[in-house]
Amino acid sequence: MALVTTKDMFEKALTQDYAVGAFNVNNMEIIQGIVEAAMEEKAPLILQVSAGARKYAKPVYLVKLVEAAIEDTGLDIALHLDHGEDFDICKKCVDDGFTSVMIDGSKHPFEENIRLTKEVVEYAHSKGVSVEAELGKLAGIEDNINVDARNATFTDPEEAAEFVEKTGVDSLAVAIGTSHGAYKFKGTPYLDFDRLQEIHKLIPDTPLVLHGASTVLPEFVEKCNEYGGNIPGAQGVPEDMIKTATKHGVCKVNIDTDLRLAMTAEIRKHFAEHPEDFDPRKYLGPARAAIKGMVQHKIRNVLNASNKR
Ligand code: G3H
Ligand code: 13P
Ligand code: ZN
Repeated sequence: MALVTTKDMFEKALTQDYAVGAFNVNNMEIIQGIVEAAMEEKAPLILQVSAGARKYAKPVYLVKLVEAAIEDTGLDIALHLDHGEDFDICKKCVDDGFTSVMIDGSKHPFEENIRLTKEVVEYAHSKGVSVEAELGKLAGIEDNINVDARNATFTDPEEAAEFVEKTGVDSLAVAIGTSHGAYKFKGTPYLDFDRLQEIHKLIPDTPLVLHGASTVLPEFVEKCNEYGGNIPGAQGVPEDMIKTATKHGVCKVNIDTDLRLAMTAEIRKHFAEHPEDFDPRKYLGPARAAIKGMVQHKIRNVLNASNKR
């Protein structure tokens, strides 16, 4: 039981066509719900922390909570920085004991993304830490996106191959039509699987990462709306599409929005049914259980990662 890098997890996932869930964590209940699910499913696990999570909880709390989860469950867990925007935050996380960092240079021109990623790779690798980078732009897309628009935003397969070769990065986040948040598609969901296959063909040994991979499960959206919420028209990536992605090199599937929705739906329901309650344990307990159930469902039925530990 330890904090581990993603190296072994990805090697296995890449050859066996399943994906490791990478779940965003912000507090104790979220961590506990996810970890309990992974433990019961005997699944590999990545817990990831964004800059916003570090600001909200303070870095030391999140690191200690993840260490506590490892001690409590005996699980191996990778602790990953999500969307590090510069060298400094990546270095801080490496120095704080993270076993994996993402340097997100996707907003920079290609050459600058290469330079920045290489700088992080050199430092992280000298400390035994894995690095994820991103190429292409994750953006909400309109229905019927045309070829020119796709080529302008999605990951270019040949650039991906050049990028991996020049940076020595361990895994690559690709843009094939997903986006962050609860409103991913207007109209019919679409992912560019031809592009994904082409990328995987050119860099078959590089684990690919799918950001913005929440399904925005209707069950939770409906429950939020039923109990006073207002999130109409929310739509995520259908589960079948995630399953397909795992067969074409995607080894890491990033999920945050589905955690937020599961938690919020349960808390809204609790307050509606028990307006007299004001003990946080009364509503955070069920919220933690909802997270556990949702994560267990993903691991078992979507990521195909049960019993892969
Ligand atoms: O990629 C974004 C993740 O959902 C993290 O979101 O920056 O609000 O913590 P956040
Ligand atoms: P979702 O918003 O789809 O959960 O994506 C999360 C993510 O990509 C974190 O990096
Ligand atoms: Zn992301």
